Amino acid sequence: MADLRGDVILVTGGSRGIGRAIALDLARAGAEVVIQYRIRRAEALAVVQAIEAAGGRAIAVEADVSDRAAVEAMAERAGRWRGRLDGVVTAAGVYRGDATRSVSPDAWTEPLRVDLDGTFWTVRSTLPWLAGSAHPAIVTVSSVLGAHAAAGGAAYQAAKAGVEQITRALALELAPRVRVNAVAPGFVRTDMNRAGHEDPEFHRTVRSATPLGRWGEPDDIAPAVRFLLSRDADWITGIVLGIDGGIALR
Ligand SMILES: NC(=O)c1ccc[n+]([C@@H]2O[C@H](COP(=O)([O-])OP(=O)(O)OC[C@H]3O[C@@H](n4cnc5c(N)ncnc54)[C@H](OP(=O)(O)O)[C@@H]3O)[C@@H](O)[C@H]2O)c1
Repeated sequence: MADLRGDVILVTGGSRGIGRAIALDLARAGAEVVIQYRIRRAEALAVVQAIEAAGGRAIAVEADVSDRAAVEAMAERAGRWRGRLDGVVTAAGVYRGDATRSVSPDAWTEPLRVDLDGTFWTVRSTLPWLAGSAHPAIVTVSSVLGAHAAAGGAAYQAAKAGVEQITRALALELAPRVRVNAVAPGFVRTDMNRAGHEDPEFHRTVRSATPLGRWGEPDDIAPAVRFLLSRDADWITGIVLGIDGGIALR
């Protein structure tokens, strides 16, 4: 396991799902973790308690990542905690699968504000704190839908395509000091798609479309994020790593 002892890492969306699994995994590797959540304080505090119970250090910070002032306040709190940040993971996100004919203005803008703007402003606001690190690294969270089209949910797909391109743009702009990479998960069982994975027919459809034959779990994503944040990935920047059971091959 990559050794992250002494690293201070902010994980947005750390209260649930993929972000929660990443936060717990990073803490197991020795990192001190700032867990950002939007409204689910109890879930975020439960992640903090699990980390502390295992001998680690963590705090929880509330912020709506679609609100730039809130993101700046989050970055300030996260950075002040230990005086710097070594890593940032932008896992906060929302999915909207609306059909174009019936999409409301809010449903169009929500993934753009949360997934795309939230990612950008989180990176932007944490840069001054990453400047204090000897090996700063950022991992953004895209989706298989960032590069592969699906019918419905055009705004989410546009937001994730944007996340992938800002990952590459920032990797160039921030080199050689800060590495910036993305992960692009396939279908992972979380609250985000509970209706989908609890529907037997949709569950089967995803399973048979996935070459490795099953839905992903949040713990399938975390080790790759840990690797990209670690010194083992010191010469890797600007990549989008698919973690999707092979579904992007279709
Ligand atoms: N699940 C999948 O199949 C899948 C596939 C590809 C990509 N992804 C991406 O992976 C990331 C995590 O998804 P997930 O499945 O783990 O989702 P999830 O279980 O629904 O968790 C979403 C997380 O994002 C936070 N969040 C939502 N809106 C926010 C906002 N406006 N400001 C700040 N935080 C906000 C939530 O905080 P609260 O708990 O406080 O609400 C929660 O921690 C997302 O970027 C998603 O697009 C997921």
